[in-house]
Amino acid sequence: MSNTSTPKNANNKLPNQQHAVVINEFGTPDVMNYQDGIDIPTVGDNQVLIKVAYAGINPVDYKTRQGKGWGADNIRKDKFDYDKPAILGFDVAGEVISSKSEQFKVGDKVAALNFAGGCYGEYVAIDAKLLAAVPESITLKQAGALPCAGQTALQFVEFADIKKNDHVVMNAPAGGVGQLVIQLLMAKITEDDIKVTVICSPEKYAKLDQLIDKSKLAGWIDYTKDDSFSDLQADVLLDLVGDDAGVRALSLLKSDGHVCVLPSIWVDKLKEAGSDKNLTIEGFAVTPSGQSMARVLQQVADATLKLHIQRSYPLSEVVKAHSELQKGSTFGKIVLEVTA
Ligand SMILES: NC(=O)c1ccc[n+]([C@@H]2O[C@H](COP(=O)([O-])OP(=O)(O)OC[C@H]3O[C@@H](n4cnc5c(N)ncnc54)[C@H](OP(=O)(O)O)[C@@H]3O)[C@@H](O)[C@H]2O)c1
Repeated sequence: MSNTSTPKNANNKLPNQQHAVVINEFGTPDVMNYQDGIDIPTVGDNQVLIKVAYAGINPVDYKTRQGKGWGADNIRKDKFDYDKPAILGFDVAGEVISSKSEQFKVGDKVAALNFAGGCYGEYVAIDAKLLAAVPESITLKQAGALPCAGQTALQFVEFADIKKNDHVVMNAPAGGVGQLVIQLLMAKITEDDIKVTVICSPEKYAKLDQLIDKSKLAGWIDYTKDDSFSDLQADVLLDLVGDDAGVRALSLLKSDGHVCVLPSIWVDKLKEAGSDKNLTIEGFAVTPSGQSMARVLQQVADATLKLHIQRSYPLSEVVKAHSELQKGSTFGKIVLEVTA
């Protein structure tokens, strides 16, 4: 992967404009407009221009669209304050069509988690340090589903620092991040003799057969039915839901248990609710990197991890895709098909 081309591309085949999904304000899904005539981004030093094949969608996308969190703060500061539209989208898989990087050349198939946004378009410029090559055995559709969920799952389980013989409870094992986290925990059942209990609906519990050998689980809690959770004296809670669902799960832990909260805005609420138990409660934030992306892709290529794609929508149907993800009951991932 060494050839470097100019961003303008020697063959002049690059168009100047693209279709993309833009927002000019925050709000409900219909603030997103699929438009033609949007400028193709400029390629900076050590960046590549990617022709986007698939863009995964994540809860952080709709939270940003709603005007919440760091994603929205960045858009306010960098775009809306200058009356410019913003292009959402942090997950991408596609082909390099122009490169200012020594590492990646035109024609390389790549994937990345790009917190600068811009992936809901036909073309996006991305820092080479965020990219990883997509192994031949992985389709761009699979690769497009993996950047945020995959990097988060690997880093979150490491962050949790689970010890030998720990009893670990996790909620949302069938969601985008959860599917990968539960598979990583199943490996630890064998390697580190941990016990794993999951919290999910009956529908999702039935579907977990597609991912794991459920006979190895220590237990399942049906959050839709059980009024209160029994005291499991568990060591670790991996909370992928937060809010009241996270608070309710605190009763499962022993008094000095460890709680890792993925939607970290809920850390303070959990700290307050669990103040009688001497718990350690920590929020987590994923750090995007090419190395982390490569590790995820390799584990999927090796078939040690898999991620179900619930549905793919054309980029022009992004409003439907966001509305579906926002229901909060996805089995795996929803992706946008851009130019595949
Ligand atoms: N801090 C970070 O760096 C970071 C990175 C990635 C994601 N996140 C956050 O982590 C969260 C999970 O992300 P995701 O992509 O996995 O979301 P997702 O795919 O939308 O999660 C959907 C899953 O949540 C489950 N669920 C919903 N309510 C539940 C409850 N009360 N108890 C148990 N399960 C419940 C659903 O299963 P049921 O049908 O069984 O309810 C569904 O399978 C999001 O809030 C996201 O923003 C944070």
